[in-house]
Amino acid sequence: MLLDGNSVGKKFVITCFGESHGRCVGVVIDGCPAGLSLSEQDIQKEMDKRIPPKPEIVSARREKDIVEILSGTFDGFTTGAPICTLVWNREVISGEYDLMKDTPRPGHADYPARIRYGSFNDYRGGGRFSGRITVAFVMAGAVAKKLLGLFGVEVLAYTIEIGKVKAQIMPTFEEIRKNTYETAVRCPDMKCAKEMEEAILKAKKEGDSVGGIVECIVSKVPVGVGEPLFDSLDADIAKMLFDVPAVKGVEFGAGFKAARLKGSENNDPYVIQNGKIVTLTNNAGGILGGLSSGMPILVRATMKPTPSISKEQETVDLSKMEETLIRVKGRHDPCIVPKAVPVIESAVAIVLVDHMLRAGFIPKVLGGQK
Ligand SMILES: Cc1cc2nc3c(=O)[nH]c(=O)nc-3n(C[C@H](O)[C@H](O)[C@H](O)COP(=O)(O)O)c2cc1C
Repeated sequence: MLLDGNSVGKKFVITCFGESHGRCVGVVIDGCPAGLSLSEQDIQKEMDKRIPPKPEIVSARREKDIVEILSGTFDGFTTGAPICTLVWNREVISGEYDLMKDTPRPGHADYPARIRYGSFNDYRGGGRFSGRITVAFVMAGAVAKKLLGLFGVEVLAYTIEIGKVKAQIMPTFEEIRKNTYETAVRCPDMKCAKEMEEAILKAKKEGDSVGGIVECIVSKVPVGVGEPLFDSLDADIAKMLFDVPAVKGVEFGAGFKAARLKGSENNDPYVIQNGKIVTLTNNAGGILGGLSSGMPILVRATMKPTPSISKEQETVDLSKMEETLIRVKGRHDPCIVPKAVPVIESAVAIVLVDHMLRAGFIPKVLGGQK
């Protein structure tokens, strides 16, 4: 079997390995500059954000996920060599998947993966197509975010919609930092967060699931990051976000609404504030011509409702070539959004570090820390 798409990036290259029910899930990061202070605790802190405190709104699979760094650091600092970091899979129950192996779950990757890889496909827990693989994004994202922090760049993701409940406030950076992880659904609008939780529990009770939208804002990106034509910053961020399982739409700034605006409404006028050139609005979402504009990058990712639901659905028994019915068992998230928030944040941070290295904003060896 060849799953030929395991690496991404040009200068900050990450390679994800592992399967949902294999021995471990991890990532090799090649291209992290030497001289970044990095401990297992730095990565653990980000990994812990994946699991919301309310067990009822996520899958019953609760891995402890103790992060190990196997290579690439010495005396608490990165050496410039590849960093390998992983977590072990311990809470694996594969029985339900043996029963379903010939009946692909509607909405999941089972059917195309079976046709492409035949009997070599590791279907247990969704194999390489499981949301579990995104722990690799979060581990690499932890390193990327720490690196960006040295250059004043902050990446923050948060939920703005779940089910049909929409956040009502446009949060400030301070509110996002303070409130997002105080709520189980990772929404800085505390009032709507409660309603979002209820929407998830209602769907779960009905044997169903709900989707939503994650927004991500990045502050203090220098002007001119990105490599047009084909490695534009927005194109690479969008690609990385579409690589997160269950992401079905990506938009920047005004996004799809721009189609309904006039040029005079959509353009972001330039002004000088405190001696700096800024724009009065940010419909561009911080990117023009594939280059960062210096305004905050604002991007949204739409997550579909979790495909594995216990409600009865139609499928085909591939071993008999007969139509049949399926009720998906096993441990599943009734909504992917809360767990996806740190994943989206990581995906954006990984692309930004890669591009800041490419454009020379981050040197290959960091100075003056040790
Ligand atoms: C963090 C995360 C958790 C997920 N949890 C589940 C889950 O519990 N059950 C499920 O069926 N899909 C889950 N998914 C989604 C599937 O992995 C995804 O829908 C599937 O691989 C098909 O890919 P696509 O939706 O991008 O087309 C999860 C995705 C993410 C990012």
